[in-house]
Amino acid sequence: MPEPAVLVLASSERAPGCARRFLGERFREMEIADDYAGRIVVTELVTNSYKHVGFGHIVVRIFREERSGLVRIEVWDQGVGLPVVRPADDQAVSGRGLPLVSALVQEWGVRPLLEEGKVVWVRYAP
Ligand SMILES: Nc1ncnc2c1ncn2[C@@H]1O[C@H](COP(=O)(O)OP(=O)(O)OP(=O)(O)O)[C@@H](O)[C@H]1O
Ligand SMILES: [Mg+2]
Repeated sequence: MPEPAVLVLASSERAPGCARRFLGERFREMEIADDYAGRIVVTELVTNSYKHVGFGHIVVRIFREERSGLVRIEVWDQGVGLPVVRPADDQAVSGRGLPLVSALVQEWGVRPLLEEGKVVWVRYAP
């Protein structure tokens, strides 16, 4: 598998924009023209890390899986809490991000790490 390029961000309100720019560069390098879903996904996952963890670093990795040809986007943060899909609630003003992400991708998941934090990942065909 090719070495995935990595972006290390401070957890701040600037992180989602930096992650979008990084995704644009990575997609150009990989010669993938359509970055629409990728931009939404990386924005939502990095915003979640900033909003729901709010300290430390956020690490973004974007690469193409050699076997499947699918693009993989991974966002690591230092928080111990895990993402949960909230039950649909007509009155809620938040809780839509992860359902939106899951609708855009083939598969997504969370990998808690023994060392620290967790990785939220998606794989999809752009
Ligand atoms: N990186 C994360 N670390 C810890 N908890 C998370 C993380 N991402 C999501 N969560 C938890 O999962 C819940 C659902 O996330 P989701 O993105 O669907 O909704 P939201 O971020 O609360 O609102 P919205 O995305 O609509 O602005 C969050 O409210 C939060 O409790
Ligand atoms: Mg969210």
